[in-house]
Amino acid sequence: MYDLIVLGGGPAGYYSAERAGAEGLDTVLVEKSELGGVCLNEGCIPSKTLLHCAKLYRQARDSEAFGVSAENVRFELATVMARKQKIIEMLRKGIASTLKKHKVTVVEGEGVIAGREGGVFQVLVGEQVLEARRLLVCTGSEAIRIPIPGADKPHVFTNREILSVDAVPEKLVVIGGGVIGLELATFFAEIGGKVTVVEMLPRIGGPIDEEISGVLEKELIKKGISFKLEAKVAAISDDAVTCQTKDGTEEIPADIVLMSVGRRAATKGIGLERLNIQHDRGAVVVDERGRTNVPGVWAAGDVNGKSMLAHTAYREGDVCISDMTAGRQVTRYHAVPGVIYTHPEVAMVGLTESEAREAGVEIVTGKLPMTYNGRYLAESEGERGICKVVVDKQTGALLGVHMIGGHCSEMIYGAAALIEDEMRVHDIQEIVFPHPTISEIIKDTLMHVKI
Ligand code: NAI
Repeated sequence: MYDLIVLGGGPAGYYSAERAGAEGLDTVLVEKSELGGVCLNEGCIPSKTLLHCAKLYRQARDSEAFGVSAENVRFELATVMARKQKIIEMLRKGIASTLKKHKVTVVEGEGVIAGREGGVFQVLVGEQVLEARRLLVCTGSEAIRIPIPGADKPHVFTNREILSVDAVPEKLVVIGGGVIGLELATFFAEIGGKVTVVEMLPRIGGPIDEEISGVLEKELIKKGISFKLEAKVAAISDDAVTCQTKDGTEEIPADIVLMSVGRRAATKGIGLERLNIQHDRGAVVVDERGRTNVPGVWAAGDVNGKSMLAHTAYREGDVCISDMTAGRQVTRYHAVPGVIYTHPEVAMVGLTESEAREAGVEIVTGKLPMTYNGRYLAESEGERGICKVVVDKQTGALLGVHMIGGHCSEMIYGAAALIEDEMRVHDIQEIVFPHPTISEIIKDTLMHVKI
């Protein structure tokens, strides 16, 4: 009999199990595939490893403007893929050893909720029956495949398969101009593939700020990526993707197709119905403490469909374990940062201008080009970027920071802290930022805001 069964060993699951172990709960973690889940094995980590290699390759080829030139620059996909694998394995070992340190039992296999008897939950893993008084569901999400003719052809990949290709696709068509589509389009375009992104909305990047979306589109076009916006994919043949645009039907040649049209909670077959756990189209319904409708059952990570980001999953894990151990934490979703690791990167936190206006908040905005910043200028050539802030006009509180350019993924946490702390512009103006850093652009943009 355990104190806690954690179903799924991705960021939500392994992190929660570690925290639970550290808090003294006797915990068992069930994982059907590899520790680390989608994020480590077929998502965040492999894609960032590949994107970094593509960036190095591009910089080596394009550094003449910086006065540096290199000859015979080559991109060796096999070496890059082997390095990616090495990193994944290293991190997997790290997770296993941290779990061990916190005395978490790891059971390999597919866990299925069997039911509850006398307040004790049962999970079946093959023949094995696990029992505990608490259950945390962290089964993650899976890629959606739109049901169009040809969607199941062998050259139609999701993020899983495309991260292990053994040759650069000559003609890659990416269906969906969201996070996964744009990051992988960047990678393949930078290493020499001809990439077309088909997006049904009029702009890329989903809910990101409209201006940032426009700048990103232009920057990616500079890399050779083509966009078909307001285009809906109708069918996939062996060598083309057919889409409907406002001008009619169009065929885009393709030797590989990436389907990146969103993800959905992975709860099929895990036995939610045996406990009558409430879900909304598969996503487990939880409150801000991660509690489901069944006392003793929590859910964290992509499976609750709230945010579908690994860093949210970590936080939700913390909150669930805090709730189990009589803590009082909640996940504050309004200050969860988001990043698109394209080149240039996009990072944001809080409300966009249009979200704030739609919510009826009276706001002022500020905007500066990244070229205002000395460090950015020193390190960039021929790239555009902006920093935009959204401020509550009545209170002066910072509501949103939206950036494209530089290492904005590495500085957005600072903006998230300012928003979490409900800081006002005049308070932030008193903070000293290190010089010269690109992060100064946040303060400088706020210095230009007139309330
Ligand atoms: P997404 O929801 O970000 O983007 C999907 C895009 O596909 C949308 O723009 C949508 O309009 C478009 N679309 C849908 N059906 C279409 C059709 N029939 N034809 C053309 N376009 C169509 O989903 P994505 O990129 O698959 O990412 C899935 C999840 O993974 C997201 O929730 C994201 O948060 C997470 N993720 C996060 C990353 C990050 O934080 N950097 C990186 C990768 C994934």
